[in-house]
Amino acid sequence: MLQSKNINTEMDWRSILGHTLEEEYNYAPRIEGKIPDNLKGTLYRNGPGRFDRGGRRKEQLLDGDGMIQSFQLLGGTAHYQNRFVRTEKYIEEEKAGKLLHETWSTRAPGGFLANLGLPRIKCQAGVTTVCRNDKLYAFDEVSNPYILDGEDLSTVGSEPVGTIDIRNYKAHTKINAKTGDWILFGTEFGKVMKAQFVIQSKTGEIKSEFSFDLPRPSYMHDFFETENFVILNLQPCGLNLGSTLLGLTSFISSLNWKPEKGNLLVAMHKSGTEKPIIMEAPTAWMWHSYNAYEVGNTIIADFVGFEKPDHFLGEDAAFKTIMNGSMGVAESKGTSRRYEIDLVAKTVKENTVATNAVEFPVINMSKSGQNYQYGYTSMGLDNNIFHSAIARVDFNDGQVSHYDFGDTVHVGEPIFAPDPTRSNDESKGWLLTLGLNGETGKSFLSILDAASLADGPVATLHLEHHSPLSFHGFWRAG
Ligand SMILES: [Fe+2]
Repeated sequence: MLQSKNINTEMDWRSILGHTLEEEYNYAPRIEGKIPDNLKGTLYRNGPGRFDRGGRRKEQLLDGDGMIQSFQLLGGTAHYQNRFVRTEKYIEEEKAGKLLHETWSTRAPGGFLANLGLPRIKCQAGVTTVCRNDKLYAFDEVSNPYILDGEDLSTVGSEPVGTIDIRNYKAHTKINAKTGDWILFGTEFGKVMKAQFVIQSKTGEIKSEFSFDLPRPSYMHDFFETENFVILNLQPCGLNLGSTLLGLTSFISSLNWKPEKGNLLVAMHKSGTEKPIIMEAPTAWMWHSYNAYEVGNTIIADFVGFEKPDHFLGEDAAFKTIMNGSMGVAESKGTSRRYEIDLVAKTVKENTVATNAVEFPVINMSKSGQNYQYGYTSMGLDNNIFHSAIARVDFNDGQVSHYDFGDTVHVGEPIFAPDPTRSNDESKGWLLTLGLNGETGKSFLSILDAASLADGPVATLHLEHHSPLSFHGFWRAG
């Protein structure tokens, strides 16, 4: 097996996902197959691109400087760019030639004295990207989002979206398909944990902003949104503040999983003026939601749920060991699950819709917050957390169709690009997924027909280098 320039054959090839990509590129990739004529727009992706400096390395795959990639598709042609977000952290560390700051998995250099007090994690702007009113945003889970130029990917600056004090904008936001509203949230650990929301109208005005106390602390990454409600999923994962304050452990090492506590769902009306509705739910770890919608007084909320986050937390977690070239623990698999939330009875039923190992759920965004049928994910046939297939889940009957790229390929989140000529049909469009070929050590973008996945890619754009793990993307049509 051929490996990339900085990996030896003893290492699991998937550790290439945790290799820094030093260069910033701008070129037309080789196209195999034919890009559909109706597929016109830009796919933006965000993820960690730099994991080391000056001989020091990040301890987790999820932790690195944010790198935006763009794939511009127009009239059968393609253009590729990648560029690092020039965060304060990136600029300071670039100048110093070494890592200076504490991040999710890795404390700042200098031992506990340099890490005393509340975590001072610097924004890396490396999780999600959203294009909104001609601004391209890059989000992390701390501080304000960064704003970039959507054409050349240069960094413009950093600013809040709302006016209330949100110290930690979460990476995941929602755009309601019916109203066009953009819903953002943040959280703040403290004596009492707070949730904060900003709802921005389609044209950029603030429609609603509110903050409320949560019944207990919980690390959350994503949420649910419907026409009238936002719903938080408080999984039983708190923060061991003692060791963090003493500077002994990183933020991630301070997270503690207490499955016996179960989950709590907190539904809040979008006006922000009503009392939150708190409901108990079975234990589940949730990185990501598919979608949610209302049926009378019931909310249907779909997500990928794990029995436990063993791939993420613990010394032998796969996201940690893969940084040193070996596959660690990832026994628990993410499955497609549905909550039926009765807002009157204040009860939650959880059902498993499909048992396949999946992650990175997406939908046709024209159905966001609305009744819908299809979800799309990456899927593992042989591995619970590093996936080789792209799948479609039919939420009406639980049927799953998929295309597998093979056991020496890794593929990530598939972004749905709707077919503009068939916009009244939720199923019509393409899935764009960034893959890594373990044989060549290089990455590619495959385009699949979302309604006939099993046929495989209709076109593949071959990159001249590898791409580190890319978390999330956004399709800007036109
Ligand atoms: Fe995410």
